[in-house]
Amino acid sequence: MFALNDVSKVFARRAALGPLSLNVPAGQTTVLIGPSGCGKSTLLRLLIGLFAPDTGAVYFDGERVTPATARAIRLRVGYVIQDGGLFPHLTARGNVTLMARHLGRPRDTIEARVNELAELTRFPLDGLDRYPHQLSGGQRQRVGLMRALMLNPDALLLDEPLGALDPLVRAELQAELRDIFRALAKTVVMVTHDLGEATFFADRVVLLRDGRIVQEGSPADLWHRAADPFVTRFVQAQRGPEVPA
Ligand SMILES: Nc1ncnc2c1ncn2[C@@H]1O[C@H](COP(=O)(O)OP(=O)(O)O)[C@@H](O)[C@H]1O
Ligand SMILES: [Mg+2]
Repeated sequence: MFALNDVSKVFARRAALGPLSLNVPAGQTTVLIGPSGCGKSTLLRLLIGLFAPDTGAVYFDGERVTPATARAIRLRVGYVIQDGGLFPHLTARGNVTLMARHLGRPRDTIEARVNELAELTRFPLDGLDRYPHQLSGGQRQRVGLMRALMLNPDALLLDEPLGALDPLVRAELQAELRDIFRALAKTVVMVTHDLGEATFFADRVVLLRDGRIVQEGSPADLWHRAADPFVTRFVQAQRGPEVPA
């Protein structure tokens, strides 16, 4: 669904990412994991053309991601931004429907879709007309998810969607989110720095360090077949809740 071929991204003459190559298969959940600053968010932004690569090429569904194609691609890829990124001056409903209204979608189609998404994400209907600051952290994340799913995208990118939540809310949302991913059977690329969470969600895990891929495989590969000493240290430092056999 996505491919990066020899992609690199440089900020202030320092390589933030790559060069690296990666294929993201359709219909699966791929989790990007690694320490803070290793390039996870940069990689997500490259996938939908919010950053242009300095070398190499990015493809979505066989089409090269360029400034000319990025707009159309972004309509097919939902993006849950790190830290939520909701517009504070818009209600939950306003945030969720912004793009659909901009595209001139019929009012009753939008209304029906909002209700469907509120049910899917278990967001209370009476919360739809509240502003982000009037919602709990977990509810704001549900709004971010509804917004990303509004146009029924082919793929969903999530940047540390549960990072800012307290442990109980986080565990509850993890379980719900995994059910939602399974029900939708979409291509999901999710960023986390938590190996337990990666193990919980991932069909494939991609471990990054200093902008490079250190290991790519199943969660069990990471836990039991570490590619190098960094992976071993990373795994041991995390003692996640789910150790696969
Ligand atoms: N817009 C930007 N301008 C300059 N440097 C950036 C920018 N975005 C990210 N970086 C740098 O690129 C590196 C990777 O950042 P990021 O992708 O945000 O990491 P992660 O999401 O894994 O924490 C970091 O060193 C960060 O400081
Ligand atoms: Mg980040």
